[in-house]
Amino acid sequence: MERYGVFGNPIAHSLSPVIHAQFAKQTGLDISYDKILAPVDGFSSSAHSFINQGAKGFNITVPFKIEAFNLATQLSLNAKTAGAVNTIKVDGDELLGENTDGIGLVNDLVNNLDISLKNKVVLILGAGGATRGILLPLLKQSPERLMIANRTASKAKQLALDFSTHGKTCGFGLDKIKDTPVDVIINATSASLDGQMPNIANGVANGAICYDLMYGEQTPFMNWAKANNAKMVMDGLGMLVEQAAAAFKFWTEKQPNTQAVIKHLRS
Ligand code: ATR
Repeated sequence: MERYGVFGNPIAHSLSPVIHAQFAKQTGLDISYDKILAPVDGFSSSAHSFINQGAKGFNITVPFKIEAFNLATQLSLNAKTAGAVNTIKVDGDELLGENTDGIGLVNDLVNNLDISLKNKVVLILGAGGATRGILLPLLKQSPERLMIANRTASKAKQLALDFSTHGKTCGFGLDKIKDTPVDVIINATSASLDGQMPNIANGVANGAICYDLMYGEQTPFMNWAKANNAKMVMDGLGMLVEQAAAAFKFWTEKQPNTQAVIKHLRS
């Protein structure tokens, strides 16, 4: 049996073991996948003890993605650009660091929801780690413009500058969002965790596809989008399953059927 798992703090709520158990069943692989609660100041030693027990790989969630970036001995371009690692593969003495969050979002949008980003105007709310993690895969879809709006304007401006060579990015404060529609709005703030909605112009949602990286209940962002004539309102469950599938493929080279798992989780 091959051993995998996910590190986080907290971790009790994680759906990843359920998702990976279904992937294993689909592909006929004999895999175990555990939830591992690492102490806030003890990620590295927890990870090393898991590796010493023969683990083949693991996922990393909040708050350890930057520490996982530092733990990896080799980094993919995605991981380097994101500045964070959510997937590690153990390869002999090497720890290969990957970031599948952005690929997960793009695969959910493009393959599951049939939303093309080519030549679209995309507005991202937030300029933290979640935004940095999705920018490169989003830019590879060739949007017309990718705007980053953040409560702290300077962070959005800096992030847009960091990615300026990749495409048409710009950054500004939430208060500078115009009251005119865009094609796609992605909520990458952590405001939903506090039951809050970033304070932005309502008209921007009109006819837009609104996607929250959070999943589960109706988030304040999703309620706001519905109340403001969004064309489509979606939570991040599909992204969660797709980022897991990309990690599963990175470890095992097998591509699971994500749509079946998304359907199962929604029911
Ligand atoms: P993550 O790694 O999840 O992105 P983070 O790096 O702490 O977490 O970033 C959180 C993001 O959510 C930031 O962009 C933050 O805005 P600030 O940079 O101004 O702090 C944003 N955020 C959190 N709560 C928010 C709220 N109530 N309204 C608007 N933005 C919020």
